[in-house]
Amino acid sequence: TPQTATIGHLLRDTDLSRPAYEQLLADATLLKHQRASGTIVPRLLGLNIAVIFEKPSTRTRSAFEVALHDEGAGCTYMDSASSHLGSSESFEDTAKVLSRFYDGIAYRGFGQNSVNELANHASIPVWNALTNEWHPTQALADMLTMMETTTKPLQDVIVCFLGDGHDNVANSLMTSAAILGMDVRIAAPAPLQPDPAVVAAAQDIAAQSGARVTVTTDVDEAIARADFLYTDVWVSMGESEESWDHRVPLLTPYRVDAAMMSRTGNPKTQFLHCLPSIHDSTTALGKKIFNRYGLNGAEVSNEVFHSTASRVYDQAENRMHTIKAVMLSSLASMTQGDR
Ligand code: CP
Ligand code: NVA
Repeated sequence: TPQTATIGHLLRDTDLSRPAYEQLLADATLLKHQRASGTIVPRLLGLNIAVIFEKPSTRTRSAFEVALHDEGAGCTYMDSASSHLGSSESFEDTAKVLSRFYDGIAYRGFGQNSVNELANHASIPVWNALTNEWHPTQALADMLTMMETTTKPLQDVIVCFLGDGHDNVANSLMTSAAILGMDVRIAAPAPLQPDPAVVAAAQDIAAQSGARVTVTTDVDEAIARADFLYTDVWVSMGESEESWDHRVPLLTPYRVDAAMMSRTGNPKTQFLHCLPSIHDSTTALGKKIFNRYGLNGAEVSNEVFHSTASRVYDQAENRMHTIKAVMLSSLASMTQGDR
């Protein structure tokens, strides 16, 4: 049984102290080994979890559902089309009602205030499965992936995010890296720089943890000696399709292609992406980008995406192990008997 750090809700990365964060990563590593060796002992038997998503998902939903299945828990998936949430029922009433049925809620939505509101009124743990502002369970998987793919301790790792700086994944990466004492850089064009309040908070955390947090428009400064280059879609779920027109010219200099990978000056630079990504023109969106802007792939080239330096599928798998660790940790008080 993992030595679970006890956490409550996970609404944003700063809900985790450094020891709790490190414990979750250690737990996830153990859980991953147990799954690989077929020695899982279900720890959440008899519990039920609601998974409520107001935006589409492939990885996060699967991660929650498979993790719960492994642990013997029941799980109900709901979206806004098939539930009252979002249109005809408040977050308060939803939280109070679901607390009578379930033992935890995973929620993906729009503004961060929605998940905060759910948590304020729920008497059970609430886990943020992505909002416009934060994606804390993604950052946990990113950290586990970096831990697994370098021989260095995380404090010595340099990770650089390139692209849309006010992206949820960028916010969580910057904040989580600050908690863990890493060297994190965000390279984004001036109109797409991260929210100054998020940067200031990350810098405050860094002052305690020894992390270095750099936010710049300058690609060469940001990528120098980087161990990892990370990017995400240039237009996120819930943002207007029209954003593409002004973002493509702004973000093209931040696209991760083979030339960008060699510009780091570190021959061992690896590539990270939370997925889904636009790296070719085989999807409907990829085709649209190609026809409209002549770009084959947007934020990353097909070549880098499929190169041996790419860790993207490891990251995706690690969503499951880390989310399992989070749920076990939040529900630890209810599973004491099994431990
Ligand atoms: N990375 C991630 O959150 O993917 P999904 O949108 O598929 O859940
Ligand atoms: N920034 C992306 C992440 C998807 C996992 C989005 O919010 O659409």
